[in-house]
Amino acid sequence: MTPVQPKTQAPQSQGTGSAGRRDSLSVTDNRTGKTYELPITNGAIHATDLRQIKTGPDDFGMMSYDPAFNNTAACISRISFIDGDKGILRYRGYPIEALAEKSTYLETAYLILHGELPTEKQLNDWAYHITHHTFIHESIKKFLDGYHYDAHPMGMLISTIAALSTFYPDAKDIFNEESRRKQTYRLIGKMPTLAAFAYRHSLGMPYVYPDNELSYPGNFLNMLFKTTELKYRPNPTLERALDILFILHADHEQNCSANAMRSVGSSHADPFSAAAAATAALYGPLHGGANEEVLRMLMQIGSVANVPAYIKRVKSGEVRLMGFGHRIYKNYDPRARIIKHVAYEVFDVMGKNPLLEIALECERIALEDDYFVSRKLYPNVDFYTGLIYQSMGFPMTMFPVLFAIPRTSGWIAQWQEMLLDPEQKIARPRQIYLGADERPYIPLVNRG
Ligand code: CMC
Repeated sequence: MTPVQPKTQAPQSQGTGSAGRRDSLSVTDNRTGKTYELPITNGAIHATDLRQIKTGPDDFGMMSYDPAFNNTAACISRISFIDGDKGILRYRGYPIEALAEKSTYLETAYLILHGELPTEKQLNDWAYHITHHTFIHESIKKFLDGYHYDAHPMGMLISTIAALSTFYPDAKDIFNEESRRKQTYRLIGKMPTLAAFAYRHSLGMPYVYPDNELSYPGNFLNMLFKTTELKYRPNPTLERALDILFILHADHEQNCSANAMRSVGSSHADPFSAAAAATAALYGPLHGGANEEVLRMLMQIGSVANVPAYIKRVKSGEVRLMGFGHRIYKNYDPRARIIKHVAYEVFDVMGKNPLLEIALECERIALEDDYFVSRKLYPNVDFYTGLIYQSMGFPMTMFPVLFAIPRTSGWIAQWQEMLLDPEQKIARPRQIYLGADERPYIPLVNRG
């Protein structure tokens, strides 16, 4: 039987279906012969309903085993919707394509956090507050100065985000709406500053302070690249390209870092500590670190002629084709499609990235090859972003940082949704223990 790929949008019905059928699941435990009826709500059974399935009074009850959450919904969410089969991504119901074409990152961040697009006044107020929370405490520069010149900027970012919690103890007041709003301004406002300062530290260049007259991405470019000019003026194509990339990375439902944000936040840690954990989760090469790995891979391949040999290594399981495959998308990642267009706009300004031909050849072969086709492996968001970032002048180590900045709005939205959800509690998965049974302690002298 061909397994059916589950949709992430659940049917809304509950109770008796329209054809008179019951929305429930009958399960027979063949160990006891007993049958149980488990209610189906929003297309799911409640895992705790399985606990009534027991072989006797001493039995703890049935659990579901799901390493890596392959088929477990850990929350009800109303932020992002993905249909992995069709390659659809929407934030709060708005297609990603429309937002990338018509919105700005700050407007999209407002949408993600508030659930609705802002009015003009709401947008102006929002942009004003974010813009007026971009400065960081001068002491943070002292921490940065303590890092080696070649420290990875993600390491610096993770630790300086965590350090923010020590500057804002009011952030612990997580059930106070006003406090959450303030920390939201601070986190979204300060992320580009922390990121840019980490970059300038690695170059040994003086830090550039925020310029309130520039847009969110324009100011970020200013803090990264300003040198002796009195006023930095970002190239409008690059500024817009960065804004689109920020929109595309703003949220992505229950991915590894969103899950880290929710999980750490569920212990009622302050949002800076939780965001530091989410950033750490993003750092890994299977998540936000993949864009950096794609570039390293393309450089290692070296030329179009070497692509078939590399694909052979991928197929033998020796290496992965980085920037390909996704837990949810079993179709072309819709973000990758938009990014490919943006790449050409950036190349028009900055010149074509010589690695582009290698990337295109990898994609061409992979989309035809049965290994990739049968596993539904398509380019994901990270496949082309690295090429754009490199053309814009970013070193590879900055790539995951460029993912973390916009994802902050999604993390805060996920965190807030978790906090306000009466069904949520401290995250605490179960385990199946298969270790040693009780045994007597052996004194050191008796151990052979
Ligand atoms: N290259 C080669 N084979 C792959 C790849 C790849 N990139 N991705 C998956 N596979 C194979 C894998 O070996 C397995 O084959 P088999 O069934 O023969 O064992 C099959 O496809 C299923 O893979 P999986 O590892 O079970 O799938 P997953 O859902 O656990 O992993 C993934 C998803 C994104 C971690 C994985 O596809 C991967 O490692 N991709 C490369 C890293 C990457 O590009 N990550 C960025 C993800 S998008 C940005 C983000 O949201 O973080």
